[in-house]
Amino acid sequence: MNDTDLPQPSLLLIAYASTLKPGGDTTLLDQILTTSQRNNDAQDITGCLGIEGRNIIQIIEGPPAAVEALFEVIRADPRHEGIVLLHRQERQKRLFPGWRMVRRPTTDLYLFLENAKVQPFRT
Ligand SMILES: Cc1cc2nc3c(=O)[nH]c(=O)nc-3n(C[C@H](O)[C@H](O)[C@H](O)COP(=O)(O)O)c2cc1C
Repeated sequence: MNDTDLPQPSLLLIAYASTLKPGGDTTLLDQILTTSQRNNDAQDITGCLGIEGRNIIQIIEGPPAAVEALFEVIRADPRHEGIVLLHRQERQKRLFPGWRMVRRPTTDLYLFLENAKVQPFRT
């Protein structure tokens, strides 16, 4: 058996939408991005964050247990509310290798998901 016959480690991708609570300080997003880049690097998580007004879309991907744990932390973060899970999919390849957490326009995030054929989450 050679390397290409080995099963590829599976990754989990989660995408959600939320709304930042009003009155957050103006450095909030910089703080979130700085923290994310540091923590995500340590956890082998990549992804991107879209913000338009107070509306957030975020995609996180990486080892399943690490992504689940991060999503629980993010869900519990009091700086935003109305968290809605949009996508949750096991994948073999990352959409954003090398992006520990990068800010992009929200329209880009929808295109990334569509191009990668990530299916909407259904309960
Ligand atoms: C919209 C939003 C997105 C976030 N994304 C991440 C993220 O990708 N990675 C991360 O570590 N923390 C993220 N956070 C911050 C976490 O909720 C939490 O505050 C942080 O992980 C705590 O890190 P610390 O224990 O190192 O201070 C996000 C918070 C918000 C409000």
